Amino acid sequence: MKKINNNDLSIKNLEEEVTLYGFVNKKRDLGGVIFFDLRDRSGIVQIVVKPESEYYDLASSLKIESVVEVIGKVVERENKNTTIATGEIEIDLKKLTLLSQAADVPFMIEDDTKALEDTRLKYRYLDIRRNYIKDKLIARHKIVTSIREYLNKLDFLEVETPILCKSTPEGARDYLVPSRVNKGKFYALPQSPQIFKQLLMIGGLEKYYQIARCFRDEDLRSDRQPEFTQVDMELSYIDENDIMDLVEGLFVKVFKDVKNISLKVPFLRMTYNEAMEKYGTDKPDLRYEIPLANVTDIFKNSEFTVFQDVIKNNGYISALVIPNGTNLITRKMIDQYTEFVKTYQAKGLAFIKVVDQDLTGGISKFITNEEQEKLLETLHYQDNDLIFFVSDKKKIAQTALGALRIKIAHDLDLIPNDQYKFLWITDFPVFEWSDEEGRYLACHHPFTAPKDEDVDKLLTDKENCYAKAYDIVLNGYEVGGGSIRIHDQEVQQKMFEALGFSDEKAKEKFGFFLEAFNYGVPPHGGLAIGLERLVMILTNTTNIRDVIAFPKTASASCLMSEAPNIVTEEQLKELNIQVIDNKNN
Ligand code: AMO
Ligand code: AMP
Repeated sequence: MKKINNNDLSIKNLEEEVTLYGFVNKKRDLGGVIFFDLRDRSGIVQIVVKPESEYYDLASSLKIESVVEVIGKVVERENKNTTIATGEIEIDLKKLTLLSQAADVPFMIEDDTKALEDTRLKYRYLDIRRNYIKDKLIARHKIVTSIREYLNKLDFLEVETPILCKSTPEGARDYLVPSRVNKGKFYALPQSPQIFKQLLMIGGLEKYYQIARCFRDEDLRSDRQPEFTQVDMELSYIDENDIMDLVEGLFVKVFKDVKNISLKVPFLRMTYNEAMEKYGTDKPDLRYEIPLANVTDIFKNSEFTVFQDVIKNNGYISALVIPNGTNLITRKMIDQYTEFVKTYQAKGLAFIKVVDQDLTGGISKFITNEEQEKLLETLHYQDNDLIFFVSDKKKIAQTALGALRIKIAHDLDLIPNDQYKFLWITDFPVFEWSDEEGRYLACHHPFTAPKDEDVDKLLTDKENCYAKAYDIVLNGYEVGGGSIRIHDQEVQQKMFEALGFSDEKAKEKFGFFLEAFNYGVPPHGGLAIGLERLVMILTNTTNIRDVIAFPKTASASCLMSEAPNIVTEEQLKELNIQVIDNKNN
């Protein structure tokens, strides 16, 4: 077995004979003496091969990335290299064995690579040799280890739940797996272990966790993969505060173990409505301020027809003040921002400038003295600020201007690195209206308990029905979410009804689950952390693929193994499946 890691070696090991293994990282032929860097998982060390060595020819013929065994003596280096950990020493080669000669590699194994991501994904095993990816996988391992330590100490049981499940309507589209034994029937891969973890509570396990693989067939983004990992937790006999305390403790330990950062708890808490009003999103990045404000009432009697129309239709006007914006944001940028908010369904973007204590430009001519006074009171604007407005239905106005807030923060470079701003978002609505489906959907999932005072609103007042749900947000990412669950069968049935499931459909889809409610249900709740998102933030990347060993592309395929792929006629026949048209359309 390989006993020594390159980075273990230092000036303390002088004169020792060592046996090392690794890849040939770089080779230099300097006036007869051959130097090459040997790279293992821990780092690199320089090997020296003198012209008189019997291994000289072999060393000279080595191709980079070949795998070798090196036996040699640790000697002090003449020209020390302070940029690497072993820079004070080198290995005087005694014996060299070529274990595997490498062909020309498609890209160089170096930290800053110019190789395209597609090439790196096709040869992912080579990409993993780079410190950039390797260090992220090491960090991921450390984070998971720290989490396991924390939960084990608190008496949680790690339990694995099935991957071949029943398809239950939860949110995203399912990945289906055909059954050979039960022809015409399908398993679904779990979107999360939600139902199983609740059944484990009904099973009396009290505290459960799992580093759980989840599968969702949804549109992919830079922080979304079709298969991803949750740190999934569930507990009995708890309330929201218990879970928030537990999860805060978990983050405190992880940040200490992995980053040596002491987080301050408790984290800030904000209701969903407050977050939408102030930031136009339920996952605000608090590393920078520039909040939005609700200025609807100020413009009740506005002379500006756009505002008048919106007010008449019970709409909403949101404002965003950019400090010193008149100097930082050009007319051309304002035009671009107008197009940008339109991608969020806003109809336009109004603005005014603050110059010499007065409002000028844009829609200033429509603003009365009284409105100006009230705006100053609400927005506290100052000279040279630029104020943007979007008026529309509440959700559109908030979301569009919230997205603009984030864009401007990027454009003006307002986001500090090395800051970690956690917050809890609480009091989510139980339902959200889907224009696409023309019905209300569960904002979280159908097992989330409504607030005690809102149980009666499930069927009668969906707009004002709030949930015992909470998300944990870090630097603008939703890193986790959870809720207290319904543990009363009647309420659960009411919820299914509210979501438009008929009695039969609820029974067909969730019958086994509803039946379990007959036999004693401990009150319970939980949360799941998106592991990749946490690793992304802790390792400073915005690309989720960087923190997954073998990720999928945006079109949900693996460029290395070429999954998904066609299967043989025999396989299809066994499954009783016929592919009608295998063209992508
Ligand atoms: P939710 O659907 O909010 O909750 O998921 C929990 C967390 O998982 C992460 N996440 C993802 N990460 C990468 N790629 C994806 N496609 C993806 N989808 C979600 C997010 C999210 O906050 N069963 C509930 C949890 C519970 O109620 O206990 C659930 O799955 O960081
Ligand atoms: P218009 O009267 O359509 O020329 O619009 C005048 C200004 O108001 C332009 O700067 C538009 O971008 C902006 N505007 C139009 N609709 C809205 C809206 N719903 N909210 C905010 N500004 C808008």
